[in-house]
Amino acid sequence: MKVIQMENVSKGFNKSILFKNVNISFDKGKIYGVFGPNGSGKSVLFKIICGFIQPDRGKVNIHSDFKQPKDNFPKSCGIIIDHPAYIANKTGFENLKRLAIIQDKISDDDIIETMNKVGLDWKLKQKVKHYSIGMKQKLSIAQAIMENQQLLILDEPFNGLDKKSVANMRQLFTDLNKTEGKTIIFTSHNQEDILMLADTIYEIDNQQISIYHN
Ligand SMILES: Nc1ncnc2c1ncn2[C@@H]1O[C@H](COP(=O)(O)OP(=O)(O)O)[C@@H](O)[C@H]1O
Ligand SMILES: [Mg+2]
Repeated sequence: MKVIQMENVSKGFNKSILFKNVNISFDKGKIYGVFGPNGSGKSVLFKIICGFIQPDRGKVNIHSDFKQPKDNFPKSCGIIIDHPAYIANKTGFENLKRLAIIQDKISDDDIIETMNKVGLDWKLKQKVKHYSIGMKQKLSIAQAIMENQQLLILDEPFNGLDKKSVANMRQLFTDLNKTEGKTIIFTSHNQEDILMLADTIYEIDNQQISIYHN
């Protein structure tokens, strides 16, 4: 089952073309890695998939099981793109709690369990403004997975993480995929992260996105 299908998608900004007639799809229950150098359009690709940016031509089809009733946005989707906005003067737990209240689906224990999984101490009194880049990254991953989201769209999830945290996060994503069947799409400019985790690799090159065979 195809969760996302992109048909003849083209996108450029001003005179620079990023994508020309891109046709790719993402199947349910698999892990996809997207790689390409800085500026190749990884974040733009994810914004197009999430409906934050419209393609110039072509379309993105989201499977009805994964779509909001009224529009084409993916639902039950955990997203990290660019730098998430947090309330700087609150703790990590308080920030996640504030987000959890919106949907009111999860308990404090669920938040605590998620924080443990990503390697954050939920009792930490430190405000998010004093968090390191890696800690902020863990917080954004927590936010993307804490409500049992079925589709995870993670832009550079390993950025800023130390070696041990990268290994922990890789294991976490593998578990979410293998034991809970989550569909995961992530980007990295680091080929090793992609090779170790992805079932299918898409490479952005020369305005095209194609399957990378290693
Ligand atoms: N909203 C925008 N307006 C104009 N140019 C943009 C916009 N978003 C991204 N770009 C440009 O598109 C290119 C790809 O950006 P991006 O997807 O962020 O690259 P990356 O692969 O590093 O994630 C960059 O040259 C960037 O400057
Ligand atoms: Mg990017």
